[in-house]
Amino acid sequence: MTGEVPDLTREELEALQLERLRSSLERAARVPHYARAFREAGVAPGDVGTLADLARFPFTTKADLRANYPFGMFAVPREEVARIHASSGTTGKPTVVGYTREDVDTWAELMARSIRAAGGRPGDLVHVAYGYGLFTGGLGAHYGAERLGCTVVPVSGGMTERQVQLIADFRPRVVMMTPSYFLAVLDEMEAQGVDPRAVGLEVGIFGAEPWTDRMRQAVEERSGIRAVDVYGLSEVMGPGVSQEAGETQDGLHVWEDHFLPEVVDPVTLEVLPDGEEGELVFTSLTKQAMPVVRYRTRDLTRLSPGSAYPAFRRMAKVTGRTDDLMIVRGVNVFPSQVEEQILTVEGLAPHYLCVLTRPGRLDELTVRVEAAAVPDQELGRRLAERIKNRIGVSARVEVLAPGALERSLGKARRISDER
Ligand code: DLL
Repeated sequence: MTGEVPDLTREELEALQLERLRSSLERAARVPHYARAFREAGVAPGDVGTLADLARFPFTTKADLRANYPFGMFAVPREEVARIHASSGTTGKPTVVGYTREDVDTWAELMARSIRAAGGRPGDLVHVAYGYGLFTGGLGAHYGAERLGCTVVPVSGGMTERQVQLIADFRPRVVMMTPSYFLAVLDEMEAQGVDPRAVGLEVGIFGAEPWTDRMRQAVEERSGIRAVDVYGLSEVMGPGVSQEAGETQDGLHVWEDHFLPEVVDPVTLEVLPDGEEGELVFTSLTKQAMPVVRYRTRDLTRLSPGSAYPAFRRMAKVTGRTDDLMIVRGVNVFPSQVEEQILTVEGLAPHYLCVLTRPGRLDELTVRVEAAAVPDQELGRRLAERIKNRIGVSARVEVLAPGALERSLGKARRISDER
């Protein structure tokens, strides 16, 4: 059935992975970049006897993709590429990715699988407010929902008032958008006097940015929906690389029949055993247009055995990206840790920005956070205390009026580095 998780034992899955890994590495070797990298590392696709042999292959980074801009990482002639996506990043050239027709088809199938795992069903009305365009969120969600047999409403991001009107009038059972944008939609519902619990919403499939379990709790309490996590990145496919099951909500099952995950120490790059936290690395197993070999995601997580789908390992909710690590006077802090503390202070809303400055010689962290109603600085004092006690860093907190911070329509910007 469309979107059904394959019924495999772990052994069967690993046998399939090994077979697919060999042919995927062979495909990759047609790309000059990989041919060179393999040669320099003294490895060849034919050397792979077990899945562990992958560890001898070189890593791939965003810099490699940039160096081969725009189409240099494609393993097929450009004419065979049916779709291009790109992610803008913060500096320089965008990262370009390509898909053959078959890739688009696989992606639709995996997104259908993800939506079903989240709790979506054929026939559901699905409101997609991920951005459409070069970003993979909108079209990825769209094709998956269509494939599953849903009625898709392709709203894309923005025009929040209209989002609320469409949700109230069309009564989707499933919404798909970034968690931070869903908060903005909930605020707008409140402003319009629309009760989020009375519009028929049941499932929210939220991803594209880190969000905490506490945020899940807050969102579920406010809206009455079941909030589940979806993960992905354009270099590997887009949304639908891994998905949390709605019935267990206990981390994201990696669709390992298509993507082989590894977790490595971000400094030594040694492969870590399951259970240990490190940087997530992916090797594609079935991608045609742009296979990736040991792509370093920069995302931090750990792997654990499957639950709802026992053969497929889970990755823990991504706590942050190595790029988002703020080192404040020697203490490592991720915005998600700040978010967690914000959600423990009643009266604060999880709309926030971490501002880094260096007024003298020392770094200073200021957390700008909105009040749920009245911006009482006493709330800020309480938050600063929690941040000090729980994270171990001194932060200045500015409590702002509701709506004072700019709302993002897609991925929320959580750090402003003003040093
Ligand atoms: O954000 C794909 C996507 C779209 C995923 C819609 C889920 C939903 P990129 O723009 O290439 O692709 O950004 C990928 O976003 O490396 C993570 O740092 C972050 N990210 C994506 N999903 C999650 C998540 C899409 N569920 C980068 N939790 C990734 C935490 C996430 N971070």
